[in-house]
Amino acid sequence: MEVLYLLTLIIVVSAELVQDLAHVEAFIKEKRYVLKKKFRPLYHISSPVGWLNSPSGFTYFRHRFHVFYQYHPYNGAWGSIQWGQAISENLVDWVHYPPALLPKDHYDKHGCLAGSATIHNNYLTLFYTGHVLAYNKTIHTQNIAISSDGLIFQKYIYNPVVRQAPPGVNEFRNPKIWRFRAHWYMLVGTSSENHEGQLALYTSPDMFHWKFNSTVAQSYGDIGHTWENPDFFELENQHVLILSVQGIQGDSYRFKNLYQTGYVVGNFNYQTLSFENLEVSLDTFAELDFGHDFYAAQTMNALDGRRLLIAWLGMWDSEFVEARDGWASLLTIVRELRLTSHGRLLMTPVREMEELRTEILENAWYSPGETFHAGAKAFELVVNASCSFYDAALIFEWSGERQYSIYYVSDRGRVSVDRGGADGVRHADWAPAGQLKWRIFIDASSIEVFCGDGEVVFSSRIYPKKGIRIRVGGEMQLHVTQYKLRRSVNYDEKLRQYLKNNFANKIKLY
Ligand SMILES: *[C@@H]1O[C@H](CO)[C@@H](O)[C@H](O)[C@H]1NC(C)=O
Ligand SMILES: *[C@@H]1O[C@H](CO)[C@@H](O)[C@H](O)[C@H]1NC(C)=O
Ligand SMILES: *[C@@H]1O[C@H](CO)[C@@H](O)[C@H](O)[C@H]1NC(C)=O
Repeated sequence: MEVLYLLTLIIVVSAELVQDLAHVEAFIKEKRYVLKKKFRPLYHISSPVGWLNSPSGFTYFRHRFHVFYQYHPYNGAWGSIQWGQAISENLVDWVHYPPALLPKDHYDKHGCLAGSATIHNNYLTLFYTGHVLAYNKTIHTQNIAISSDGLIFQKYIYNPVVRQAPPGVNEFRNPKIWRFRAHWYMLVGTSSENHEGQLALYTSPDMFHWKFNSTVAQSYGDIGHTWENPDFFELENQHVLILSVQGIQGDSYRFKNLYQTGYVVGNFNYQTLSFENLEVSLDTFAELDFGHDFYAAQTMNALDGRRLLIAWLGMWDSEFVEARDGWASLLTIVRELRLTSHGRLLMTPVREMEELRTEILENAWYSPGETFHAGAKAFELVVNASCSFYDAALIFEWSGERQYSIYYVSDRGRVSVDRGGADGVRHADWAPAGQLKWRIFIDASSIEVFCGDGEVVFSSRIYPKKGIRIRVGGEMQLHVTQYKLRRSVNYDEKLRQYLKNNFANKIKLY
């Protein structure tokens, strides 16, 4: 297949630079766009201009981490989607580069939907879903794009590599590719004729020729009408399957978001190509993150063995207040996953996050009722109590009111957040082992709360009007260390210069 690779790269000499900024230019000129920075994060990957959603192709290639994202620069809403890209050497300092994939071929002309990446023979290879609307029908195919430098991608000349969904399948998207021994595997999220979420498994000897093997997992009525963004990996000798699911009925406690991202743990048998001890049901499907805005998680394996995760810090059909400022939405910070002996995933910020700390703003014990000013828009709070026998709370206020609170109720073994409004509360069971600990990341218009050793995480958008005041509530004294965090997301010089020269004062990338 190496020959095929080279052929692909040589034949497509047209090597048109996939840097289609003219559209952006036209759009910005037309709209007299000024990107406002009020809600713009400093250390999260957010949309440079226009719309961003699900991460894709999170991987490590030639000493650098790559993450792609669904990108629609022409306005603050989903549309004919591209693959934007950002690159990092350390998981916290990211640089945006011009888009990697644009929807302009017959099989992807209405969108290059999310997928995954793999490294093979020194090429970074992307797998994505071509989205075409024809005769009021959606046609989804699975496609490949290849890069030798990790910046410029060539679509494979024999795309699509999977032209048709299995019979009776409605939706068909987000290929997750991996290799095991001599074979390649692909999971694709689907929806059955009866509108039940399903996963299709394909196999390939060479990564280019794919054969449908089976529907390897499915909902039996209670886990949604459509499955998407599958992710699959081995951790602690177990297999973990992550899914994004549309259509689970929530109750007062679980699955309260419009759509869910969760996981099941079991064993994948490579002999029979089937899951063992793994069923996707309301009993087994566990939410990954309990906040309001979390979807489409992607993982990768770092060289040091860590399983890393990044997700969309967003949710469909929610209000993106910043869209009127010329951009919309962001990705989460990168997290590390561990699996407990009870089959629960723990999710903690990657240790590299500490590199963003520039200054200690607070470092003291606070009694219930005491407050302090945040004094920054991008910061981290490390909160400890001396035990976990009493209730604890941290309340974020602005415009003179309580706006977001985190509270731990000791005798119920529960931690909750409340963002206000009709659908503001999210709960999770939590019985901290020993002391109560929270690590909280705030970045202009987002908050990520990590409880204990990562047993529970809440990720949500917030829109502070002015400075944030932080109040300690509950019954316990809390020790708070507040670190100011620096800006760590930047723009490739070529991209920046181009935008600067062409839009003068109209566009400010921050
Ligand atoms: C597509 O749907 C629209 C609105 O329902 C209808 O007006 C149009 O004729 C349809 N087009 C085709 C090709 O079926
Ligand atoms: C799926 O893979 C299994 C294991 O290799 C094989 O026995 C089975 O025949 C395959 N099914 C199809 C439809 O190819
Ligand atoms: C808070 O907890 C962290 C993590 O266990 C620990 O490193 C830190 O020393 C604690 N700080 C205080 C003031 O207890």
